[in-house]
Amino acid sequence: MQLLDPSNRADPYPVYERIRESGPLLLPEAHLAVFSRFRDCDDVLRHPDSASDGTKSTMVQRRMAEGEVVRPLGTPGFLFLDPPDHTRLRRLVSKAFVPKVVKALEPDITAMVDDMLDRVADAGRLDVISDLAYPLPVAVICRLLGVPLEDEPKFSRASAVLAQALDPFITVTGEMPDNVDERLQAGDWLRGYLRELIDLRRSAPRDDLISGLIAAEEAGDQLTEDEIVATCNLLLIAGHETTVNLIANAMLAMLRQPGQWTALANDPSRVAAVVEETMRHDPPVQLAMRIAGEDLTIGSTRLAKGDTMMMLLAAAHRDPEAFDRPDVFDPDRDGIRHLGFGKGPHFCLGAPLARLEASVALRAVTARFPGATIGGEPVYKPNLTLRGMESLPVTL
Ligand code: HEM
Repeated sequence: MQLLDPSNRADPYPVYERIRESGPLLLPEAHLAVFSRFRDCDDVLRHPDSASDGTKSTMVQRRMAEGEVVRPLGTPGFLFLDPPDHTRLRRLVSKAFVPKVVKALEPDITAMVDDMLDRVADAGRLDVISDLAYPLPVAVICRLLGVPLEDEPKFSRASAVLAQALDPFITVTGEMPDNVDERLQAGDWLRGYLRELIDLRRSAPRDDLISGLIAAEEAGDQLTEDEIVATCNLLLIAGHETTVNLIANAMLAMLRQPGQWTALANDPSRVAAVVEETMRHDPPVQLAMRIAGEDLTIGSTRLAKGDTMMMLLAAAHRDPEAFDRPDVFDPDRDGIRHLGFGKGPHFCLGAPLARLEASVALRAVTARFPGATIGGEPVYKPNLTLRGMESLPVTL
C-alpha cells in the first residue's frame, strides 16, 4: 500500500489526495475503513461509540484467541484506553498541562531557546532538528516529569523506535514488522529506566510530575505503579516525537515562502496563526485510529462492532470541501481549523505546551535571523503516523 511506502514520506499529500478522492477505503479482510474527508474524520473522533482500546478490534481479538500476547509490555498509556481507566488516569495528570500552569514555563522556555540560538549564531547555519526543534521539547518534558536531562541520550533512541511502533503496519498488512524485537527491547528498556527513577523519587520526592504521581498512588488506590510507568512513558514519547515536527514543519513552510518568514520576523503577533496553519497544512500527527465499539455509520459507511477506523488527519486537512486552496500554506486564511490535536475525550493534553514551545521558538528564530534561507533539502524519517524530518539545514 502506497500509504506505508517510505518513499512518499517527503510529500505524502498526492497519495492522500488520491485516497480521499476515491472515498473511504474499505479493506474488509482487515476489518478496516480508512477515512480521509474532514467531515468523516471529525465524525469518527466525536462519535460516542469510537473506542481507543485497540484490543476491542476484531483482528486483535482474533490474534488473542490464537494465543498471541498483544500487549507484551503490559498496561498501555491512557491514549490507548477507554473510560473508566482513561478518565481516571487523564485526570491525574491534566492539571500539570492546563494553559495557566504551562504559561508559567514561558520565561524558562524563552531562555532555553535563546541559549540554543546563541550556540549557532557564530557558525552562520543551523540544523533545525538537532539544534532547536528536538532539544527544546525534550528539555521541557524532562524537566516537567523530573527525568535528568543527562540521561536523555540513553533514551532518545528508545523513544524513536517506540514512535515508529505507532505506524499502522500490522493493521494494514496483517503482518509483524521486521524490527518487532527491537521495539520490545526499547519498550522494556524505557520502562525499566522509569521504574528505577520512580524508586529514586519514592525515597526522595521532588517538585516534578513523577513525584506527584507517586504521591497520588500512595494517597489511595488511584493508580498502580504500572500505570505510573505507562503514563510517564506516554508523556515522555509525546514530548520527544511531536512538537519537534511542529516547529520544523512551520520553519520549512515559512522558508519555502520567504515572505512568511519575514512577515513573522516583523510581526511576532502572527505566530499563533502560523502555528495553527502548520497544524492544518502539515500536521505532526498524520493519522489516528479508533475501533467501532458498536455497529455504527460514518457518512455512508457502515461499520460493524470491532472494525478498525483509521483517520488520515493530514488528508482531511487538505479536503477541498472543508478548505479553500487547501494545499496553500496561508496563515492569513479565515478561521483556521484542524484536527491535528485530535478532538473529544482524547484531545491532546500537551496542546497548550506544544503551542507555547512552538510560538516561543518561531518568534525567536525569525526575529533573530530574518534573512535565513534553506541550506539544503530536508531529510525525512520513515515514520508515517508521527511523520517528521531527520534534518533540515538552514543558512542564517
Ligand atoms: C505539536 C505537538 C503535538 C501534536 C501534534 C499532538 C497530537 C496529538 C493528537 C492528535 C492526540 C490525539 C490522538 C487520538 O485521539 O488518538 C494527542 C493526544 C495526546 N497528547 Fe499530544 N500532541 C502534541 C504534543 C504533545 C505533548 C508535548 C504532550 C505532553 C507532553 C502530549 C501529550 C498527549 C497525551 C497525553 C495525549 C493522550 C490524551 C488522551 O488520550 O486523553 N502531546 N496528541
